Amino acid sequence: MSQKSPIDQTLAEQGVSTPAGVTSLFTEIGSRLAPHDLQGDLDRSQWREVRDHWLGRKSGVLSRIADNWLKPASPELKRVVGQELNKLKSQVERALEQSRREIEAAAERAPEARDQIDLSLPGRERAIGTRHLIRQTYEELQRIFLSIGFSVVEGPEIETPYYNFEALNIPEHHPARDNMDTFYIEGASGGHLLRTHTSPMQIRTMERQPPPVRIIVPGKVYRRDNPDSTHGYMFHQIEGLAVDTDITFCDFKGTVEYFVREFLGPRVKTRLRASYFPFTEPSAEVDATCHVCEGKGCRVCKFSGWIELFGAGMVDPAVYGFVRYDAEHLSGFAFGMGIDRLAMMKYGISELPILFQNDVRFLGQFP
Ligand code: DAH
Repeated sequence: MSQKSPIDQTLAEQGVSTPAGVTSLFTEIGSRLAPHDLQGDLDRSQWREVRDHWLGRKSGVLSRIADNWLKPASPELKRVVGQELNKLKSQVERALEQSRREIEAAAERAPEARDQIDLSLPGRERAIGTRHLIRQTYEELQRIFLSIGFSVVEGPEIETPYYNFEALNIPEHHPARDNMDTFYIEGASGGHLLRTHTSPMQIRTMERQPPPVRIIVPGKVYRRDNPDSTHGYMFHQIEGLAVDTDITFCDFKGTVEYFVREFLGPRVKTRLRASYFPFTEPSAEVDATCHVCEGKGCRVCKFSGWIELFGAGMVDPAVYGFVRYDAEHLSGFAFGMGIDRLAMMKYGISELPILFQNDVRFLGQFP
Protein backbone atom coordinates (compact mmCIF):
# COMPACT_ATOMS: atom_id res chain seq x y z
CA MET A 1 0.00 0.00 0.00
CA SER A 2 1.55 3.26 -1.08
CA GLN A 3 1.61 5.78 1.71
CA LYS A 4 -0.34 8.91 1.07
CA SER A 5 1.49 12.17 1.57
CA PRO A 6 0.21 14.02 4.68
CA ILE A 7 -0.90 16.95 2.54
CA ASP A 8 -3.30 14.67 0.69
CA GLN A 9 -5.00 13.58 3.88
CA THR A 10 -7.33 15.57 6.10
CA LEU A 11 -6.28 16.47 9.62
CA ALA A 12 -8.86 14.12 10.98
CA GLU A 13 -7.48 11.28 8.90
CA GLN A 14 -4.08 11.99 10.39
CA GLY A 15 -5.52 12.11 13.90
CA VAL A 16 -4.53 15.74 14.40
CA SER A 17 -7.04 17.47 16.62
CA THR A 18 -5.18 20.14 18.57
CA PRO A 19 -3.69 23.53 17.53
CA ALA A 20 -0.27 22.30 18.68
CA GLY A 21 -0.60 19.31 16.34
CA VAL A 22 -1.42 21.67 13.49
CA THR A 23 1.53 23.93 14.21
CA SER A 24 3.99 21.07 14.26
CA LEU A 25 2.61 19.73 10.94
CA PHE A 26 3.26 23.14 9.33
CA THR A 27 6.71 23.38 10.86
CA GLU A 28 7.49 20.02 9.34
CA ILE A 29 6.32 21.14 5.87
CA GLY A 30 8.11 24.52 6.09
CA SER A 31 11.40 22.89 6.96
CA ARG A 32 11.32 21.20 3.60
CA LEU A 33 11.30 24.50 1.77
CA ALA A 34 14.55 26.04 2.76
CA PRO A 35 17.31 25.43 2.32
CA HIS A 36 16.62 22.18 0.49
CA ASP A 37 14.62 23.34 -2.48
CA LEU A 38 16.16 26.72 -3.11
CA GLN A 39 19.72 26.03 -2.32
CA GLY A 40 22.62 26.40 -4.73
CA ASP A 41 22.74 27.74 -8.22
CA LEU A 42 19.33 27.20 -9.67
CA ASP A 43 18.80 28.15 -13.25
CA ARG A 44 15.55 29.80 -14.30
CA SER A 45 13.71 26.63 -15.25
CA GLN A 46 14.65 24.84 -12.04
CA TRP A 47 13.37 27.88 -10.15
CA ARG A 48 10.03 27.64 -11.98
CA GLU A 49 9.76 23.98 -11.06
CA VAL A 50 10.24 24.80 -7.42
CA ARG A 51 7.74 27.61 -7.64
CA ASP A 52 5.10 25.36 -9.27
CA HIS A 53 5.75 22.62 -6.78
CA TRP A 54 4.78 24.99 -3.96
CA LEU A 55 2.40 27.46 -5.53
CA GLY A 56 0.96 25.58 -8.52
CA ARG A 57 -2.75 26.35 -8.68
CA LYS A 58 -4.08 22.80 -8.89
CA SER A 59 -1.51 20.51 -7.34
CA GLY A 60 0.90 22.85 -5.59
CA VAL A 61 1.62 22.07 -1.96
CA LEU A 62 -0.25 25.14 -0.72
CA SER A 63 -3.35 24.41 -2.77
CA ARG A 64 -3.46 20.86 -1.51
CA ILE A 65 -3.10 22.00 2.06
CA ALA A 66 -5.95 24.44 1.51
CA ASP A 67 -8.08 21.70 0.01
CA ASN A 68 -7.25 18.88 2.38
CA TRP A 69 -6.47 20.55 5.68
CA LEU A 70 -8.18 23.92 5.72
CA LYS A 71 -11.52 23.29 4.04
CA PRO A 72 -12.50 20.16 5.97
CA ALA A 73 -11.00 21.39 9.25
CA SER A 74 -13.15 21.44 12.36
CA PRO A 75 -14.24 24.94 13.40
CA GLU A 76 -11.84 24.85 16.36
CA LEU A 77 -8.82 24.22 14.14
CA LYS A 78 -9.79 26.26 11.11
CA ARG A 79 -8.41 29.49 12.50
CA VAL A 80 -4.98 28.12 13.35
CA VAL A 81 -4.76 26.22 10.05
CA GLY A 82 -5.57 29.45 8.18
CA GLN A 83 -2.93 31.40 10.09
CA GLU A 84 -0.28 28.73 9.60
CA LEU A 85 -1.11 28.43 5.93
CA ASN A 86 -0.70 32.18 5.44
CA LYS A 87 2.61 32.08 7.28
CA LEU A 88 3.84 29.22 5.12
CA LYS A 89 2.71 31.00 1.98
CA SER A 90 4.66 34.16 2.74
CA GLN A 91 7.65 32.09 3.77
CA VAL A 92 7.54 30.32 0.40
CA GLU A 93 7.10 33.58 -1.47
CA ARG A 94 9.98 35.26 0.35
CA ALA A 95 12.32 32.35 -0.36
CA LEU A 96 11.31 32.25 -4.00
CA GLU A 97 11.76 35.98 -4.35
CA GLN A 98 15.21 35.90 -2.81
CA SER A 99 16.26 33.05 -5.01
CA ARG A 100 14.91 34.87 -8.08
CA ARG A 101 16.97 37.94 -7.23
CA GLU A 102 20.10 35.85 -6.87
CA ILE A 103 19.52 34.27 -10.24
CA GLU A 104 19.01 37.68 -11.86
CA ALA A 105 22.14 39.10 -10.23
CA ALA A 106 24.22 36.16 -11.39
CA ALA A 107 22.87 36.61 -14.92
CA GLU A 108 23.85 40.25 -14.81
CA ARG A 109 27.32 39.46 -13.59
CA ALA A 110 27.93 36.82 -16.21
CA PRO A 111 28.46 39.03 -19.28
CA GLU A 112 30.57 41.33 -17.15
CA ALA A 113 32.82 38.44 -16.19
CA ARG A 114 33.04 37.41 -19.80
CA ASP A 115 34.13 40.94 -20.72
CA GLN A 116 37.06 40.82 -18.33
CA ILE A 117 38.76 38.19 -20.43
CA ASP A 118 39.24 39.60 -23.90
CA LEU A 119 40.15 36.58 -25.94
CA SER A 120 41.15 38.76 -28.87
CA LEU A 121 44.02 40.36 -26.94
CA PRO A 122 47.52 39.01 -27.61
CA GLY A 123 48.93 36.96 -24.72
CA ARG A 124 51.30 38.42 -22.19
CA GLU A 125 54.75 37.91 -23.57
CA ARG A 126 57.49 36.81 -21.25
CA ALA A 127 60.95 38.03 -22.08
CA ILE A 128 63.13 35.09 -22.95
CA GLY A 129 66.59 35.34 -21.46
CA THR A 130 69.80 34.78 -23.36
CA ARG A 131 72.85 32.80 -22.47
CA HIS A 132 75.35 35.09 -20.83
CA LEU A 133 78.18 36.18 -23.08
CA ILE A 134 80.71 34.38 -20.88
CA ARG A 135 78.71 31.19 -21.15
CA GLN A 136 78.38 31.62 -24.91
CA THR A 137 82.11 32.15 -25.22
CA TYR A 138 82.83 29.17 -22.99
CA GLU A 139 80.53 26.97 -25.05
CA GLU A 140 82.35 28.00 -28.20
CA LEU A 141 85.72 27.20 -26.63
CA GLN A 142 84.41 23.91 -25.34
CA ARG A 143 83.02 22.98 -28.77
CA ILE A 144 86.43 23.50 -30.34
CA PHE A 145 88.28 21.36 -27.81
CA LEU A 146 85.66 18.61 -27.71
CA SER A 147 85.97 18.36 -31.50
CA ILE A 148 89.65 17.38 -31.17
CA GLY A 149 89.26 14.82 -28.43
CA PHE A 150 89.42 16.77 -25.18
CA SER A 151 86.89 16.17 -22.43
CA VAL A 152 85.68 18.48 -19.68
CA VAL A 153 86.46 18.13 -15.98
CA GLU A 154 85.66 20.53 -13.18
CA GLY A 155 87.25 21.02 -9.81
CA PRO A 156 86.96 22.80 -6.47
CA GLU A 157 87.18 26.57 -6.16
CA ILE A 158 88.52 26.16 -2.64
CA GLU A 159 91.95 24.61 -2.93
CA THR A 160 94.96 23.76 -0.84
CA PRO A 161 98.30 25.49 -1.39
CA TYR A 162 99.64 22.11 -2.44
CA TYR A 163 97.42 21.83 -5.53
CA ASN A 164 97.33 25.54 -6.30
CA PHE A 165 101.11 26.00 -5.99
CA GLU A 166 103.49 23.25 -4.82
CA ALA A 167 102.49 20.45 -7.13
CA LEU A 168 102.57 22.93 -10.00
CA ASN A 169 106.21 23.46 -9.25
CA ILE A 170 105.65 26.77 -7.43
CA PRO A 171 107.43 26.35 -4.08
CA GLU A 172 106.74 28.51 -1.05
CA HIS A 173 109.02 31.47 -1.70
CA HIS A 174 108.81 31.38 -5.46
CA PRO A 175 108.18 34.85 -6.91
CA ALA A 176 105.38 33.43 -9.07
CA ARG A 177 103.24 33.36 -5.94
CA ASP A 178 103.48 37.12 -5.69
CA ASN A 179 101.91 37.56 -9.12
CA MET A 180 98.81 35.81 -7.94
CA ASP A 181 97.57 37.77 -4.97
CA THR A 182 95.77 35.03 -3.20
CA PHE A 183 92.68 34.98 -0.99
CA TYR A 184 93.48 32.74 1.95
CA ILE A 185 90.61 31.34 3.97
CA GLU A 186 90.93 32.30 7.60
CA GLY A 187 90.94 29.53 10.14
CA ALA A 188 90.88 26.75 7.57
CA SER A 189 93.02 23.86 8.76
CA GLY A 190 95.93 23.33 6.43
CA GLY A 191 95.46 26.84 5.02
CA HIS A 192 92.89 26.66 2.30
CA LEU A 193 92.62 29.32 -0.36
CA LEU A 194 90.50 30.36 -3.32
CA ARG A 195 92.18 28.93 -6.38
CA THR A 196 94.04 31.56 -8.37
CA HIS A 197 93.89 29.51 -11.55
CA THR A 198 92.32 26.32 -12.89
CA SER A 199 95.74 24.66 -13.19
CA PRO A 200 95.34 22.67 -9.92
CA MET A 201 93.03 20.36 -11.85
CA GLN A 202 96.04 19.26 -13.92
CA ILE A 203 97.38 17.70 -10.76
CA ARG A 204 94.09 16.33 -9.46
CA THR A 205 93.35 14.73 -12.83
CA MET A 206 96.77 13.11 -13.22
CA GLU A 207 96.57 11.82 -9.64
CA ARG A 208 93.25 10.20 -10.47
CA GLN A 209 93.93 8.61 -13.81
CA PRO A 210 96.79 7.10 -15.76
CA PRO A 211 97.81 8.69 -19.08
CA PRO A 212 96.71 9.51 -21.72
CA VAL A 213 95.05 12.73 -20.53
CA ARG A 214 93.22 15.24 -22.70
CA ILE A 215 91.16 17.60 -20.60
CA ILE A 216 89.90 21.12 -20.39
CA VAL A 217 88.90 22.62 -17.06
CA PRO A 218 86.52 25.57 -17.05
CA GLY A 219 85.77 27.52 -13.91
CA LYS A 220 85.97 30.57 -11.72
CA VAL A 221 89.26 31.73 -10.26
CA TYR A 222 89.98 34.43 -7.68
CA ARG A 223 92.71 37.00 -7.20
CA ARG A 224 93.09 39.92 -4.87
CA ASP A 225 93.39 42.44 -7.69
CA ASN A 226 92.32 46.04 -7.43
CA PRO A 227 89.24 46.23 -9.61
CA ASP A 228 89.55 48.32 -12.76
CA SER A 229 88.31 48.13 -16.33
CA THR A 230 90.18 44.87 -16.96
CA HIS A 231 90.53 43.37 -13.47
CA GLY A 232 88.15 42.00 -10.88
CA TYR A 233 88.46 39.71 -7.87
CA MET A 234 86.99 36.85 -9.87
CA PHE A 235 87.27 35.76 -13.48
CA HIS A 236 86.87 32.65 -15.61
CA GLN A 237 89.54 30.40 -17.01
CA ILE A 238 89.88 27.29 -19.09
CA GLU A 239 92.84 25.13 -18.31
CA GLY A 240 93.97 22.57 -20.86
CA LEU A 241 96.21 19.55 -20.48
CA ALA A 242 97.27 16.84 -22.91
CA VAL A 243 99.69 14.12 -21.80
CA ASP A 244 100.61 10.99 -23.71
CA THR A 245 103.63 8.93 -24.75
CA ASP A 246 104.23 10.69 -28.05
CA ILE A 247 103.17 14.33 -27.75
CA THR A 248 105.63 16.72 -29.37
CA PHE A 249 106.05 20.44 -29.61
CA CYS A 250 104.51 20.12 -33.11
CA ASP A 251 101.31 18.70 -31.60
CA PHE A 252 101.30 21.61 -29.17
CA LYS A 253 101.75 24.21 -31.92
CA GLY A 254 99.27 22.50 -34.25
CA THR A 255 96.63 22.34 -31.53
CA VAL A 256 97.11 25.98 -30.61
CA GLU A 257 96.89 27.11 -34.24
CA TYR A 258 93.83 24.99 -34.90
CA PHE A 259 92.17 26.46 -31.84
CA VAL A 260 92.97 30.07 -32.75
CA ARG A 261 91.69 29.69 -36.31
CA GLU A 262 88.47 28.06 -35.10
CA PHE A 263 87.91 30.76 -32.53
CA LEU A 264 88.94 33.88 -34.44
CA GLY A 265 88.63 32.85 -38.09
CA PRO A 266 90.83 31.34 -40.80
CA ARG A 267 92.66 34.57 -41.69
CA VAL A 268 94.18 34.99 -38.25
CA LYS A 269 97.87 34.05 -37.82
CA THR A 270 99.40 32.72 -34.61
CA ARG A 271 102.79 33.21 -33.02
CA LEU A 272 104.43 31.78 -29.93
CA ARG A 273 106.44 34.17 -27.82
CA ALA A 274 108.90 32.85 -25.25
CA SER A 275 107.62 33.21 -21.71
CA TYR A 276 107.87 31.66 -18.28
CA PHE A 277 105.56 29.50 -16.18
CA PRO A 278 106.86 27.26 -13.39
CA PHE A 279 104.84 24.26 -14.60
CA THR A 280 105.80 24.41 -18.31
CA GLU A 281 109.15 24.25 -20.04
CA PRO A 282 109.46 25.74 -22.56
CA SER A 283 106.67 28.23 -21.92
CA ALA A 284 105.03 30.53 -24.41
CA GLU A 285 102.55 33.33 -24.78
CA VAL A 286 100.23 32.64 -27.68
CA ASP A 287 99.55 35.74 -29.75
CA ALA A 288 97.24 36.14 -32.74
CA THR A 289 97.17 38.77 -35.44
CA CYS A 290 94.64 41.42 -34.53
CA HIS A 291 91.25 40.29 -35.76
CA VAL A 292 90.17 43.92 -36.20
CA CYS A 293 92.98 45.27 -38.43
CA GLU A 294 94.33 41.88 -39.55
CA GLY A 295 97.80 42.79 -38.31
CA LYS A 296 98.14 46.25 -39.80
CA GLY A 297 97.94 47.97 -36.43
CA CYS A 298 94.99 49.67 -34.81
CA ARG A 299 93.77 50.88 -31.43
CA VAL A 300 92.54 47.43 -30.41
CA CYS A 301 96.03 45.89 -30.77
CA LYS A 302 97.73 49.09 -29.59
CA PHE A 303 99.22 49.41 -33.09
CA SER A 304 101.33 46.27 -32.72
CA GLY A 305 99.29 44.11 -35.07
CA TRP A 306 99.25 41.33 -32.42
CA ILE A 307 97.02 40.43 -29.54
CA GLU A 308 98.08 38.32 -26.58
CA LEU A 309 95.68 35.41 -26.16
CA PHE A 310 96.89 33.04 -23.45
CA GLY A 311 99.78 31.26 -21.77
CA ALA A 312 100.89 27.74 -22.60
CA GLY A 313 103.83 25.40 -22.89
CA MET A 314 105.17 21.86 -22.70
CA VAL A 315 104.52 20.30 -19.29
CA ASP A 316 107.60 20.66 -17.06
CA PRO A 317 108.85 17.15 -16.13
CA ALA A 318 108.99 18.29 -12.50
CA VAL A 319 105.19 18.29 -12.48
CA TYR A 320 105.09 14.61 -13.44
CA GLY A 321 107.15 13.92 -10.34
CA PHE A 322 104.32 15.17 -8.13
CA VAL A 323 101.78 12.79 -9.66
CA ARG A 324 104.07 9.78 -10.13
CA TYR A 325 103.86 9.93 -13.92
CA ASP A 326 106.86 8.52 -15.77
CA ALA A 327 108.65 11.66 -16.97
CA GLU A 328 111.01 9.54 -19.09
CA HIS A 329 108.27 8.24 -21.36
CA LEU A 330 105.58 10.87 -21.16
CA SER A 331 105.27 14.33 -22.60
CA GLY A 332 102.51 16.85 -23.02
CA PHE A 333 101.40 20.40 -23.23
CA ALA A 334 99.22 22.69 -21.16
CA PHE A 335 97.52 26.00 -21.60
CA GLY A 336 95.46 28.42 -19.54
CA MET A 337 93.18 31.03 -21.02
CA GLY A 338 90.88 33.68 -19.60
CA ILE A 339 87.36 33.21 -20.92
CA ASP A 340 86.34 36.78 -20.02
CA ARG A 341 89.43 38.18 -21.73
CA LEU A 342 88.78 36.21 -24.90
CA ALA A 343 85.14 37.30 -24.89
CA MET A 344 86.10 40.95 -24.46
CA MET A 345 88.61 40.73 -27.25
CA LYS A 346 86.36 38.89 -29.67
CA TYR A 347 83.30 41.08 -29.07
CA GLY A 348 85.10 44.40 -28.65
CA ILE A 349 84.19 44.97 -25.00
CA SER A 350 86.51 47.37 -23.19
CA GLU A 351 85.09 47.15 -19.67
CA LEU A 352 85.31 43.91 -17.71
CA PRO A 353 82.80 44.92 -15.00
CA ILE A 354 80.01 45.21 -17.56
CA LEU A 355 80.17 41.43 -17.93
CA PHE A 356 79.06 41.01 -14.32
CA GLN A 357 76.52 43.80 -13.90
CA ASN A 358 73.75 41.83 -15.63
CA ASP A 359 72.31 44.90 -17.28
CA VAL A 360 69.82 43.56 -19.82
CA ARG A 361 70.65 46.39 -22.21
CA PHE A 362 74.11 44.85 -22.46
CA LEU A 363 73.12 41.18 -22.25
CA GLY A 364 70.40 41.64 -24.87
CA GLN A 365 73.04 42.57 -27.44
CA PHE A 366 74.24 38.97 -27.46
CA PRO A 367 71.12 36.94 -28.13
N1 DAH B 1 97.79 29.20 -14.73
C1 DAH B 1 98.24 30.33 -15.50
C2 DAH B 1 97.63 31.61 -14.97
O1 DAH B 1 96.63 31.56 -14.37
C3 DAH B 1 97.85 30.18 -16.93
C4 DAH B 1 98.58 29.11 -17.60
C5 DAH B 1 99.75 29.37 -18.29
C6 DAH B 1 98.16 27.80 -17.54
C7 DAH B 1 100.46 28.39 -18.94
C8 DAH B 1 98.86 26.79 -18.17
C9 DAH B 1 100.01 27.10 -18.86
O2 DAH B 1 98.47 25.53 -18.13
O3 DAH B 1 100.70 26.13 -19.49
O4 DAH B 1 98.17 32.65 -15.19
